[in-house]
Amino acid sequence: MTSHEQIHFDGRAETYETEIGQEYPQALKWWLLRKYSSEGEQVVDVGGASGRHAIELACVNRDVTCIDLSFGMLKKMSVRDSFDALENFQKPKPIVAKAQSIPLASQSVDLAYCYATLLLMHDQDKAISELVRIVRPGGHVIVDIARPWNFGWLYWRRHYRKLGFPGIFPLSNKATGKLFSCLGCYPVETIATGFLTQLLYLPYVEQKTSLRHWIHRNGEGPDLDGKVTAKVPLLANREYIVLRKEKRI
Ligand SMILES: C[S@@+](CC[C@H](N)C(=O)[O-])C[C@H]1O[C@@H](n2cnc3c(N)ncnc32)[C@H](O)[C@@H]1O
Repeated sequence: MTSHEQIHFDGRAETYETEIGQEYPQALKWWLLRKYSSEGEQVVDVGGASGRHAIELACVNRDVTCIDLSFGMLKKMSVRDSFDALENFQKPKPIVAKAQSIPLASQSVDLAYCYATLLLMHDQDKAISELVRIVRPGGHVIVDIARPWNFGWLYWRRHYRKLGFPGIFPLSNKATGKLFSCLGCYPVETIATGFLTQLLYLPYVEQKTSLRHWIHRNGEGPDLDGKVTAKVPLLANREYIVLRKEKRI
């Protein structure tokens, strides 16, 4: 059965962002992927869309699988010039599937990550369990989690509800801490963003002021928003969390 999400993202496939993006934290997402994977390793991008990160990772010799519930997104990946330019053995393998039920063997990959997707799921704990399940002991999972003490999520909830989605589902520190520990993994790096970015969602601020210019900068090093949010992580909009799966699980 085709879900509302599939129809929506199939419709966005043609115009969805294909560049990694230079503004921090887009650059941060890419920096984390490079830092926690090595050449030849098996990497799985969940909610990978049209290969925004998957193709770039394949270009630096990671063995990539790109999972998405949208057939349209994965089809778009397979017709991109940068995909075509790769040797067959290097091309990311597309799999149409839901994050909550990943059709890969347990403990079969080195790194699994999911960016800008978990917040859409009311049952994101299932998706996070799946990411942890497929990673080998000692391997890593990278996720971004929307946090509740920031009104950015109110903006995005309104945005997605208008599009017919149930909403946005931020998770508290307490909830994720408990979940990670039940799953036998622990955070090795956490980077908070978005305390100042929430101001851009106020009426007219983005259009009428140069606030974005002041709080955001290109590059992997924290911009003003990143530096300020690091001091008040409880008030972050988004936390990028790298988990290590314990060896004994
Ligand atoms: C907002 S895009 C994020 C794409 C990319 N990860 C990024 O960082 O830009 C969300 C993607 O996740 C996919 N998606 C949404 N819900 C999903 C689910 N439950 N399982 C798998 N993919 C899902 C959508 O089809 C879409 O391609």
